[in-house]
Amino acid sequence: MAQQVLATLIMALCLSWASAAFNCSLYASTCSGTPGYTAYSDCSDTVAANPNMTCRAYHLGVAATADNAIEHCPHAAQDATGPCVNETLKSFNCSLYASTCSGTPGYKAYTGCSDTVKANPLGMVCRTYHLGVAATGGNADTHCPHAAQDATGPCVNETLKSFDCSLYASTCSATAGYKAYTGCSDTVKANPLGMVCRTYHLGVAATADNAETHCPHAAQDATGPCATETLKSFNCSLYASTCSGTPGYKAYAGCSDTVKANPLGMVCRTYHLGVAATANNAETHCPHAAQDATGPCATETLKSFNCSLYASTCSETAGYKAYADCSATVAANPLGMVCRTYHLGVAAKPGNAMHCPNAAENATGPCAAEVLSVGVPTSTTSRPTATMASGESRLIPGMMMLLSVRGLINANN
Ligand SMILES: *[C@@H]1O[C@H](CO)[C@@H](O)[C@H](O)[C@H]1NC(C)=O
Ligand SMILES: *[C@@H]1O[C@H](CO)[C@@H](O)[C@H](O)[C@H]1NC(C)=O
Ligand SMILES: *[C@@H]1O[C@H](CO)[C@@H](O)[C@H](O)[C@H]1NC(C)=O
Ligand SMILES: *[C@@H]1O[C@H](CO)[C@@H](O)[C@H](O)[C@H]1NC(C)=O
Ligand SMILES: *[C@@H]1O[C@H](CO)[C@@H](O)[C@H](O)[C@H]1NC(C)=O
Ligand SMILES: *[C@@H]1O[C@H](CO)[C@@H](O)[C@H](O)[C@H]1NC(C)=O
Ligand SMILES: *[C@@H]1O[C@H](CO)[C@@H](O)[C@H](O)[C@H]1NC(C)=O
Ligand SMILES: *[C@@H]1O[C@H](CO)[C@@H](O)[C@H](O)[C@H]1NC(C)=O
Repeated sequence: MAQQVLATLIMALCLSWASAAFNCSLYASTCSGTPGYTAYSDCSDTVAANPNMTCRAYHLGVAATADNAIEHCPHAAQDATGPCVNETLKSFNCSLYASTCSGTPGYKAYTGCSDTVKANPLGMVCRTYHLGVAATGGNADTHCPHAAQDATGPCVNETLKSFDCSLYASTCSATAGYKAYTGCSDTVKANPLGMVCRTYHLGVAATADNAETHCPHAAQDATGPCATETLKSFNCSLYASTCSGTPGYKAYAGCSDTVKANPLGMVCRTYHLGVAATANNAETHCPHAAQDATGPCATETLKSFNCSLYASTCSETAGYKAYADCSATVAANPLGMVCRTYHLGVAAKPGNAMHCPNAAENATGPCAAEVLSVGVPTSTTSRPTATMASGESRLIPGMMMLLSVRGLINANN
């Protein structure tokens, strides 16, 4: 009989012990003054998602008694140490998100869910809690959007780690094969959810002895596990549909070749085109996204035709013809050699010299339709001294040729 009472008492004690929830405000008031204190990223959601934080709750209780805070607060932290190190808090379950939410309206899959989770080890508790709620009967439609990468509602302010451009530079610039981003901050702005693999590997690179291995995974031209994390590229049809109705609109000369010739070099235009495509922003941002970009993108120089690369790549190929005056032709066609520029880039890769005719002055194949303006020969001393603006004067020989061709046609009629 006495034994039964004792057993019941012990059970009751255990139950009340287990049900003593972790007290977030007690943690803050007890521990915030201790060395190495870290606040919970979202304490109440952590507790809601982890009703069974018994080890942390016990050590917080001890910490709150005299002279015990310094020793016991770290055991009660989100990133707990010592006896609570194995009390694993629930983390975001990517396959649960997919299975719970993929059928709900407006569902968006994570881009790189497991990398997002690894990059935010303590930072997804709101999403984790709401995903748990979503997975219970009839709650998916309401709570899935709170658990999305682009979270809404109560989780809208749970910011996920983004790519840190200055950390990349400081961590990686001394490693072998380092390449700086072209326009890092624009790349980050153009890919708000799309750099999680690079973000995670940059975090790893920044830990001891990991830079050489992981920096290439975090590069703009990423390798290894992040090689398939494609960054947003310039969308030619979006440019046309967004911008063609704006004042001063200019179509690209050879948009898709421009994009192919500048695989990493249009991030400013790409970002501003994205902004232009949002409500009421086209008039302001389309000019920044143009081939002849203005404003913040005026300094984002697109690749131009490289005369010495043409000579060194192609001069040994069959049927090679040098440009009559390559640099004058380039100067006369600032935006108009993108097909040749792209194909020269292809030709310059090992075993590809058969692409040289596409890059020639009298181009063949896909570039035959890319009509060049005639340049002022750089050797000539009798440059036109007409009363035209300097940019226009370059076109004079080409215009004269056109006029004389028309004259011929008229004369023959
Ligand atoms: C949590 O701790 C605070 C002191 O920070 C206390 O005032 C409050 O009553 C505690 N809450 C519970 C539910 O025990
Ligand atoms: C809480 O955790 C204890 C051990 O840490 C375990 O025995 C118990 O089943 C857990 N309770 C719940 C509801 O998960
Ligand atoms: C935590 O788990 C590891 C691996 O299972 C084990 O070696 C270690 O002793 C555990 N620590 C505590 C405090 O339970
Ligand atoms: C994640 O969710 C799936 C259901 O989609 C479940 O089978 C699995 O056990 C969960 N993983 C963890 C670690 O809880
Ligand atoms: C998110 O942050 C904004 C700006 O600080 C604030 O106005 C808003 O109330 C916050 N929303 C939530 C759900 O916490
Ligand atoms: C490019 O923009 C068009 C809208 O003009 C859109 O339909 C298409 O999906 C976009 N392409 C990519 C790869 O995002
Ligand atoms: C042009 O190509 C040559 C190789 O022939 C190269 O050394 C040079 O850096 C290139 N110029 C530019 C501006 O890329
Ligand atoms: C290109 O073709 C025109 C007309 O056929 C010719 O006059 C010119 O010499 C050619 N240029 C080159 C560099 O082959």
